Amino acid sequence: MRMSVIGCGYLGAVHAAAMASIGHDVIGIDVDEAKVAMLQRGDAPFFEPQLGELLRQGIDAGRLRFTSRMADAGGADVHFLAVGTPQVQGGHAADLRYVDAAVDALLPHLRPGDVLAGKSTVPVGTAAAIARRIDPTGATVVWNPEFLREGWAVHDTLTPDRIVVGVPDTTDGAAAVETIRASYSSAIDAGTPFLVTDLATAELVKGAANAFLATKISFINAMAEIADAAGADVTLLADALGHDTRIGRRYLGSGIGFGGGCLPKDIRAFAARAEELGRGESVVFLREVDAINLRRRDRAVQLVIDALDGRVFGRRIAVLGAAFKPFSDDIRDSPALDVAVRLRGLGADVIVTDPAAIDNAAAVHPQLGYARDRDDALRDADAVVVVTEWDEYRRDLSPAHAGGLVRNRIIIDGRNCLDAAAWRAAGWNYRGMGRR
Ligand code: UDX
Repeated sequence: MRMSVIGCGYLGAVHAAAMASIGHDVIGIDVDEAKVAMLQRGDAPFFEPQLGELLRQGIDAGRLRFTSRMADAGGADVHFLAVGTPQVQGGHAADLRYVDAAVDALLPHLRPGDVLAGKSTVPVGTAAAIARRIDPTGATVVWNPEFLREGWAVHDTLTPDRIVVGVPDTTDGAAAVETIRASYSSAIDAGTPFLVTDLATAELVKGAANAFLATKISFINAMAEIADAAGADVTLLADALGHDTRIGRRYLGSGIGFGGGCLPKDIRAFAARAEELGRGESVVFLREVDAINLRRRDRAVQLVIDALDGRVFGRRIAVLGAAFKPFSDDIRDSPALDVAVRLRGLGADVIVTDPAAIDNAAAVHPQLGYARDRDDALRDADAVVVVTEWDEYRRDLSPAHAGGLVRNRIIIDGRNCLDAAAWRAAGWNYRGMGRR
């Protein structure tokens, strides 16, 4: 099929490359000329495993190209809308300016029978509003939310857990289902569940999924607060809970909490939209989810202060991690970087290291010290804080090796990802978050 993908960020660039890899003819469109040039060269503009390879294969096969000209979308059978929906300045709602601008620019190029498939995370009701705008063109709007995780984006796009498509209850809607089914035929043939819903339900699925995941993380972090007070261990608690198949162990990872470009802003936008619909009370708990999450950062900073007996000013602190999670260079709303910035604000001499995110972090927070080499960051540290659970810290860093580099054997495990017993046995003052 011929496809356009409008917006080539984390979602769109991966979607375009993945669709080309399964044989479709794809044009990726973005207003950012520099990004287009990189993509056209086959270079991933951000850290995402397998993306570069997939881009180069698609471009070499002649099935994938990138442009900033919206007119080039003309002639595609399906247009995937994958632009960002950030949080509005000064509020909690989603900012739809990029969605609106993309639809405006695409409008003159839509033909009868075209399908406009929204993938961006939007407040419920957005698809219906877009459908009204494009109605005169004879094209059909469907909503096809994306559930990809950064770092696993190629995997999640090619082998998703499920494919959801919301369509209008019309003949054109039924035809559009077939267009979407054909777009994903390889995954559907391999057994991926394909769920057809109305537009509003498809929009809600995405917000609800992210709200649930965020709630699960904040639930275990609330238990970490209780565990701290009671002298229990939240990681053992999570293991024990996780064996109950109704609960499951995934997303019960406790520590400094969730961040990134999706969960924090998506739960806020979800609650803001619920308020507009007169159902704010239904999601009041999301405010608590957010508040618990943000308290984790305070807690991590407090653990460092306590471990240094209140004397943080001028002390050298090695911060292991800057990205909001491993396998990503994304620092948007990163709890890791937030902890580093707060420690710097207390006058600490903070040295941040990260395998992928240093350039992004340094561009936004030049006041922090950075070391590309993990051991350089550790050298002479008065305390070490692990804030992103990269394998380089979680698995590959031995307590004995680290002990030979630092000034004080103090380690705060902000992700509860280290073997506490092994670190203590090597003479470290180990402190986890909600761990004895
Ligand atoms: C998330 C959703 O998983 C994805 O389905 C959606 O499409 C976009 O938002 P992503 O932002 O890539 O994806 O990150 P995810 O892997 O879900 O992690 C989000 C945050 O939660 C990270 O900061 C991570 O460190 C944190 N997290 C995750 C925990 O603190 N504990 C966990 O157990 C899991």
